[in-house]
Amino acid sequence: MILITGGAGYIGSHIALKLLEESDRKIVIFDNLENGHMSTIKTLQSVRDFDFVKGDLKNQDDLENLFRNFDIDSVIHFAACICVEESVQNPRKYYSNNLVGTINLLNKMLDHDVKKIVFSSTAAVYGEPKYVPIDENHPKQPINAYGKTKFMAEEILDDYDRAYNLKSIRLRYFNVAGSDSKNRIGESHDPETHLIPNILASAADSENVFNLFGTDYATRDGTCIRDYVNVEDLASAHISALQYLSEKNQSDCFNIGTKNGNTVKEIFETCKKITEKEIKVKINPRRGGDPESLVANNEKAKKILNWCPKKTLEDTIKTAYAWLKK
Ligand code: UFG
Repeated sequence: MILITGGAGYIGSHIALKLLEESDRKIVIFDNLENGHMSTIKTLQSVRDFDFVKGDLKNQDDLENLFRNFDIDSVIHFAACICVEESVQNPRKYYSNNLVGTINLLNKMLDHDVKKIVFSSTAAVYGEPKYVPIDENHPKQPINAYGKTKFMAEEILDDYDRAYNLKSIRLRYFNVAGSDSKNRIGESHDPETHLIPNILASAADSENVFNLFGTDYATRDGTCIRDYVNVEDLASAHISALQYLSEKNQSDCFNIGTKNGNTVKEIFETCKKITEKEIKVKINPRRGGDPESLVANNEKAKKILNWCPKKTLEDTIKTAYAWLKK
């Protein structure tokens, strides 16, 4: 059985959906529902039934019961706080949830002899790029607490492999966007901080002004560059990672991105074209903790995981817009 922590959230639910639809593996989702949604669990259960446990990684009893009650052999760990700017203002929340939560989970895995994990890492582990596209060997100097928690967790995973033979695949996501192409689940954060859903929300409501953060970066139009990877493509990368773990039983890390960088202004223009709406914009100063440019070199994932992103940026924005309208 596969344990999915954070499976009621945006990314975790899309990976759960793919496993439910395309495999016969049993899954159990563990989520404290702080950011995840019970409605997402219900939608997933209508696809194929599975176990859901409401619980918190910071609660040892919740974890012990989880590992006692279910016959878990591998873990996909999504449960974490994810907002870069919030992590700068409230690092305590990030170190408690992301780092303490991960350590508790890993220790419980060891207690119950579970030795395989796919870990949600992030491009934020690299910090300000020394070169782009960024490969996996790029220096890791995260500039915000969010990135630091993920980097520290990766270091712990290395130590746990050396000492206890716990094998991990760390997937370093670039900017994940879009939603299920059948429009059953999607992205719903409260508050929403991500670029594409925020632009689309402004497109859908003429009173809602889109806040653009920073036009003085040294990029082609002054706004930040990011690599937007489709959430369904990301789900495929997790399936490949699970397969790699079970076949090779080796730890490794992979960038998951498209190798294409888009500026905030380019994303804005593409959203305008797709929605055919006028969108009100307010130019603001830079947001705390934002690196100038993050674009993935994805050759390693292509070569070793046999993974390749298939969706275009337009596909991604269209599914995000369909979900928002629903
Ligand atoms: N932006 C705006 N206005 C908004 C939202 C975002 O101008 O309303 C800008 C940001 O300043 C940034 C870019 O759009 O320049 C992308 O911002 P997002 O919030 O969409 O994404 P981030 O790059 O900050 O972070 C995301 C994930 C992190 C992950 C990171 C890795 O949220 O978990 O990608 O690249 F670590």
